[in-house]
Amino acid sequence: MGIKFDNVSFEYPTVNEKVFAIKDINLSIKPEGELIAIVGHTGSGKSTMIQHMNALLLPSNGDVDVFGHKVVKGEKLTPIRKRVGMVFQFPEYQLFEETVEKDIMFGPLNFGLTKEEAKEKAEEVISIVGLDESFLPRSPFNLSGGQMRRVAIAGILAMEPDILILDEPTVGLDPQGQIEMMELFLSIHEKYNKTVILVTHNMDVVSEYANRVIVMKKARLVFDGSPVDLFGNEKLVRDYDLDLPKYMKIMKVLNDKFDSKLDETVFNLEDLVTELKKL
Ligand SMILES: Nc1ncnc2c1ncn2[C@@H]1O[C@H](COP(=O)(O)OP(=O)(O)OP(=O)(O)O)[C@@H](O)[C@H]1O
Ligand SMILES: [Mg+2]
Repeated sequence: MGIKFDNVSFEYPTVNEKVFAIKDINLSIKPEGELIAIVGHTGSGKSTMIQHMNALLLPSNGDVDVFGHKVVKGEKLTPIRKRVGMVFQFPEYQLFEETVEKDIMFGPLNFGLTKEEAKEKAEEVISIVGLDESFLPRSPFNLSGGQMRRVAIAGILAMEPDILILDEPTVGLDPQGQIEMMELFLSIHEKYNKTVILVTHNMDVVSEYANRVIVMKKARLVFDGSPVDLFGNEKLVRDYDLDLPKYMKIMKVLNDKFDSKLDETVFNLEDLVTELKKL
């Protein structure tokens, strides 16, 4: 169960010649326990790929299966949208209700909850995203950017998706806001054992949080494995034209400077210190 792609390709209907935005993608995602980062150059197909995961786009070729529902025209797509929650880039632009509470209640009401139940849901999820109930009566448009983004994420969580997908969720936040946002996803992943999938250009996010990384290159899925297997392989990093996580960059400089052979595949400060002690 979960999400399964079987040779999935997609081409946008354009006036010019047809180009595949994703091509022959095979993957399988479990409904729990995964924290997946999707990386790759701009235009490589990341957003197109994730939009297939909750049936916002239907494949031109191949099969997408989401929790046993085949994603095809005519099939009921609501069950899919409920189980796979999607948070777009800059989700704060999608807020539209006059209060935070109404905004969060919108999805649950659409999926058939009563007003009372939706209200309770709003109270529950507002604290999950690190805000408190005093935000509920406020206008979503008088909040800071980071708070607005949290409200938008609360609105998705209120629908109780099994899998949460976020497209570049830390873009535009200050460094502290980025850390808080990532800690939020980590807690959703750990506390509720939900699979979280995020598209990111930040290799520190990949190395510090993800347990699986998918690399897209020119519409193809070219790597699917652990961050250690990716960043520990210099050839892959070069071939995929990826940046290195910051601690690995530091280790490289140190090895150069001291002509040492310390392990460079280091993802956090503690491991960096452990390596340094060997000098
Ligand atoms: N609505 C659209 N109509 C036509 N072509 C599109 C559309 N959206 C994306 N494309 C094309 O599909 C390809 C993949 O785009 P996609 O948005 O999936 O890339 P991405 O990896 O998410 O890039 P980024 O990192 O910039 O967000 C690109 O060549 C892009 O120009
Ligand atoms: Mg994108």
